[in-house]
Amino acid sequence: MSDCSLVLNLEGVSKVYRSGEFSVRALDKVSLQAHAGEMITIMGPSGSGKTTLLTIAGALLRPTEGRVSICGVDVTEMDQGRLAAIRRTKVGFIYQSFNLLEALSAVENVRLVIHNGSRAGAAQAMARAMDLLEVFGLSHRMHSLPRKMSDGEKQRVAIARALAKDADLILADEPTANLDAKRGQEVMALLREKALELRRAVIVVSHDERIRQFAQRVVWLEDGRLRDHH
Ligand SMILES: Nc1ncnc2c1ncn2[C@@H]1O[C@H](COP(=O)(O)OP(=O)(O)OP(=O)(O)O)[C@@H](O)[C@H]1O
Ligand SMILES: [Mg+2]
Repeated sequence: MSDCSLVLNLEGVSKVYRSGEFSVRALDKVSLQAHAGEMITIMGPSGSGKTTLLTIAGALLRPTEGRVSICGVDVTEMDQGRLAAIRRTKVGFIYQSFNLLEALSAVENVRLVIHNGSRAGAAQAMARAMDLLEVFGLSHRMHSLPRKMSDGEKQRVAIARALAKDADLILADEPTANLDAKRGQEVMALLREKALELRRAVIVVSHDERIRQFAQRVVWLEDGRLRDHH
């Protein structure tokens, strides 16, 4: 566990992609704070910078200007080795395409991210993975391989995995894009409920209007600029 309450702090973050003589200002002086126990939805048209923002928030991409802190640690100029450690311990990603390991069962996919050295630790990790899958209604799918599961089931495994990690920051890019409306809403409701209970900060990127009801806060991106949305 951690004492991190201001989980993500983006201050004046801009991102310019350059290729040759062309450049695209994907983000323009974006400031955003996410606290433990908060779920924020980022909405906006295609090309407005949503994925860029999420990728910078998860320390996978450096901003051109501005500062990024995760749990009070400034990661803006951190070297790759330390960044990898921050991502491994502090950040859980949920992708549109699930990103499960196809050779591993549901429970193994979740257990994999729970770090434990000792033998007692391994048993504990297994128990924790099983508990989480049970919460997500997957008791009957523990030992199933991803290819034998439905999209909704796979997405629930992916969310269980992100929560299993004890990551303070959970980032999801269009997590419901591959799900039908009903499944999408179920998955979002579960993510919200568990994230709040476990005091994680969650940022969900979506351009699905139906997702906004699940967030405490909706922010709107347009041409790389952020504004609060009511
Ligand atoms: N690696 C890159 N190199 C150059 N330009 C990029 C790169 N990635 C994104 N862009 C540009 O930056 C802008 C923002 O892209 P981004 O992917 O963040 O948008 P988005 O809001 O996630 O869009 P979508 O809803 O379609 O996923 C776009 O104009 C895009 O073309
Ligand atoms: Mg995107």
